[in-house]
Amino acid sequence: MSERKILVTSALPYANGPIHIGHLVEYIQTDIWVRFQKQRGNQCYYVCADDTHGTPIMLRADKEGISPEQLIAQTEQEHRADFAEFGVAFDHYHSTHSAENKDLSEFIYRQLKAGGHISQRTITQAFDPLKQMFLPDRFIKGECPKCGAKDQYGDNCEACGATYSPTELINAVSAVSGEKPIEKDSEHYFFNLNDFETMLTEWTTEEGHLQPEVRNKMAEWLENGLQQWDISRDAPYFGFEIPDAPGKYFYVWLDAPIGYMASFKNFCELQNIDFDAFWGANSETELYHFIGKDIIYFHALFWPAMLHGAGFRTPSAVFAHGFLTVNGEKMSKSRGTFIKARTYLDHLNPEYLRYYFAAKLAAGVDDLDLNFDDFSQRVNSDLVGKVVNIASRCSGFIHKRFDGKLSAACSEPELFNQFIAAAPRIAELYETREFGKAMREIMALADLANQYIDEKKPWVIAKEEGKDTELHDACSMGINLFSLLIAYLKPVVPSLVENAEQFLNIDAQAWPSERQPLLDHAINKFKPLMTRVENDKIEAIVSASKENLEPEKTIQKQWDPIADTIEFDDFAKLDLRIAKIVKAQTVDGADKLLQLTVDIGDETRNIFAGIKSAYSPEDLEGQLTLVIANLKPRKMRFGVSEGMVLAAGPGGKDIWVLKPDQGAQAGMRVK
Ligand code: 2FM
Ligand code: ZN
Repeated sequence: MSERKILVTSALPYANGPIHIGHLVEYIQTDIWVRFQKQRGNQCYYVCADDTHGTPIMLRADKEGISPEQLIAQTEQEHRADFAEFGVAFDHYHSTHSAENKDLSEFIYRQLKAGGHISQRTITQAFDPLKQMFLPDRFIKGECPKCGAKDQYGDNCEACGATYSPTELINAVSAVSGEKPIEKDSEHYFFNLNDFETMLTEWTTEEGHLQPEVRNKMAEWLENGLQQWDISRDAPYFGFEIPDAPGKYFYVWLDAPIGYMASFKNFCELQNIDFDAFWGANSETELYHFIGKDIIYFHALFWPAMLHGAGFRTPSAVFAHGFLTVNGEKMSKSRGTFIKARTYLDHLNPEYLRYYFAAKLAAGVDDLDLNFDDFSQRVNSDLVGKVVNIASRCSGFIHKRFDGKLSAACSEPELFNQFIAAAPRIAELYETREFGKAMREIMALADLANQYIDEKKPWVIAKEEGKDTELHDACSMGINLFSLLIAYLKPVVPSLVENAEQFLNIDAQAWPSERQPLLDHAINKFKPLMTRVENDKIEAIVSASKENLEPEKTIQKQWDPIADTIEFDDFAKLDLRIAKIVKAQTVDGADKLLQLTVDIGDETRNIFAGIKSAYSPEDLEGQLTLVIANLKPRKMRFGVSEGMVLAAGPGGKDIWVLKPDQGAQAGMRVK
């Protein structure tokens, strides 16, 4: 069989938050699969990148008082370090905020546009008048229209589960500024997904592209009809500006999957690899995307359509996985089960988690549970108790009695061959992402090896006269079986296996197929390859992950942000005058207003001011204040207001009318 050429990706993590154990399910799953392919001798590249664009990243940087570029650079360093320590070995890690991604995004967009697959139309959206930005659903908060629960985000209620549109929220406010959103029109760009209905129907139903349960979901979506996809966002936005559309940016989800290509492109340039051989329309290479089940729509509909529409190949398959639960529940910050990769690394060996996830992963989209008791029990009993134990039981005698050398003959060729014969079966399980089943096969072999040693009882025969050869053979056999077990476990626990190979004094092992036993071979001194999981370490992780959750404050700054800079001429347009309040009275039927008669020098004005909650008429009569004198008169229910009194404060009792310093006179202009 000739070597396969494979390109593999994991979903690009957002650049505004840390990697957590939920993410790691996917990166570990992908990494195991990639390591397996490499061990088999296939040419397999694994690329990823940080997903750097979008509103949350822009706002997060703003909140931290740094630029988005600084935020994404900082996060990328953290992500890279976390992945490296978990043994997630990307061939290349890049960023969606890169020259390659900009070029490819523009290219794909232009191709789609040239093909007639882009349209434009005006839509109305919530807009924050203070921040001067359109608000994505998740940045609008208010009361649930169904159950009245306060502080609900965007389009669904966490209290009652209702779904609605953000315009239905009661007393909606912008989560960015606390201001009431207004509706505003804007022209948007759309990708005509519906142009690709036939292509997508074929692609999603063709064998191998999607898991059966995903394929069924796609059929439902396709049946309901494909909608146009809004691919533009208005400034301010952290992303790439759309060609020939000033102030319009590509929506983060447009350039994110293109980031797969961009990362690979950058890699190809560094390594002199033929990019087109992997992405060209007639590519004969394989392309796999590992993703979470929440982003299937993007990867199984938008992405193949975009690629096809722009003249590229489509993926060989998209592999979706389920979510991680911890002790049977959703990861939770208050329970301490929302565990960051870094927190885990501070306390435990990353390969415990790699093995545990492998032991629980299957090819479907079912959720996967990390149960702490099961975790330590399984790692301790399988890796430490079964696998590593074989080497530690046998190596001592080899060194003490046989000068560190294995025997010259294989005493149980059948047993050895039985281990070799398992190779295709285990390979098939890795290939089809049935890692849990693969681990069970490997552990069944480990049981056989331990059984063999239990029967031979080296610790007994070691004390008997004339049993040297038997002892040598049994221990050598044990070591040889161990060498095969670690070859099978190599994709899962690479660092343990590397140390074990060093102990065995052998080169990095390929996938066992025709492998011969190690005979008359010198091994190195045994050093403990893995220690048992200590339960207090798990407790330490949970307690370090516990967060006392104050409800998040909607308004981040104490005061409204300073408004945009104006020219002096703009200020000069305001005619502010010193005014004397000659009369103040309540207004029948108006609970917030006072009616003021003010002397502004050469004339008197009638002004309605919303200050009744803070002042009674007698407090005001005879006082000097400031008014805007050239404000267009406004007709109100109770009469015409001919100007505006200046005041500060949030409202209620807390309103303060402005007063000039002593000596100022009614009619003087404020400059
Ligand atoms: O859901 C997410 O976390 C996205 N950042 C995944 C992007 S995957 C790809 F399309 F870039
Ligand atoms: Zn509700």
